[in-house]
Amino acid sequence: MKFNDSPVGIFDSGLGGLTVFKEIRKILPFEDLIYFGDTARVPYGNKSKETIIKYSSEILEFLTGRKVKIVVVACNTSSSLALDDLRKKAGVPVFGVIEPGAKKAVEVSSGGNIAVIGTSATIQSRAYSIAIHKEITFLNGDKSRRFNNGFKIIEKACPLFVPLVEEGFLNQEITKSVINHYLSSLIVEKPSCLVLGCTHYPMLKDLISAEIGGNTEIIDSGIETAEVVKNYLKKNGMLKVGAEKGGELFFVSDDIEKFKELGGKFLGRSMENVSLTDGDVIK
Ligand code: DGL
Repeated sequence: MKFNDSPVGIFDSGLGGLTVFKEIRKILPFEDLIYFGDTARVPYGNKSKETIIKYSSEILEFLTGRKVKIVVVACNTSSSLALDDLRKKAGVPVFGVIEPGAKKAVEVSSGGNIAVIGTSATIQSRAYSIAIHKEITFLNGDKSRRFNNGFKIIEKACPLFVPLVEEGFLNQEITKSVINHYLSSLIVEKPSCLVLGCTHYPMLKDLISAEIGGNTEIIDSGIETAEVVKNYLKKNGMLKVGAEKGGELFFVSDDIEKFKELGGKFLGRSMENVSLTDGDVIK
């Protein structure tokens, strides 16, 4: 098989990365995609950095063993805490979701406050603040694009969102109450934009949007990441050649039926080609 024809590997702790998968599929219809959801060990967001690196590295090994040409870490928690480590080990390019989301936030905020929500691990890592400041420093190097520095970055951990999404509680009253509980302290800061810093959260986008109000733009890192991936493959001559619809393989570490059922809601279609891994990821 030619290198260009190799698949794109995508992974998350569970279902959330399917929101990134969906965006990649939308703009790269011919690529073969392999998705791994670590459903046996979700959530990652309340685990230590060491554990997140360990789990992410095992999945990286699984995907590179299937000869992927690039890996997309479709998980903010892994991207925040394990990306540097994964890049050192991978042997293929590895893309995270933080930097694309942070860039977009700076682009749309025009100097207004930026809110970021994510798992406890992502928020504690301050990965978004660091990436946003890095982007602003970069832009400020260009005198024509000087950025107003009088803005605030407000970061908030929303640890109950992932279990609600993994349980399929996408539109229930309890979900609305939890969203209200977490977001009320953000609303008073009148953020110009809100970054969904967890790949599970786009499934709650409408409810979050209703709570935060129309003046705050919602940023989905998955959409931005898909663009980055496409541009990279194009620029480096790595796009799959041919006009046949790309193949799809999904692997999970537990509960295949639940993944199929809820995954279908994430993708908006029924799911095929889902396999249970045979223990080589869960050691
Ligand atoms: N979807 C993941 C993220 O983007 C992880 C959620 C979790 O496992 O806690 O952070």
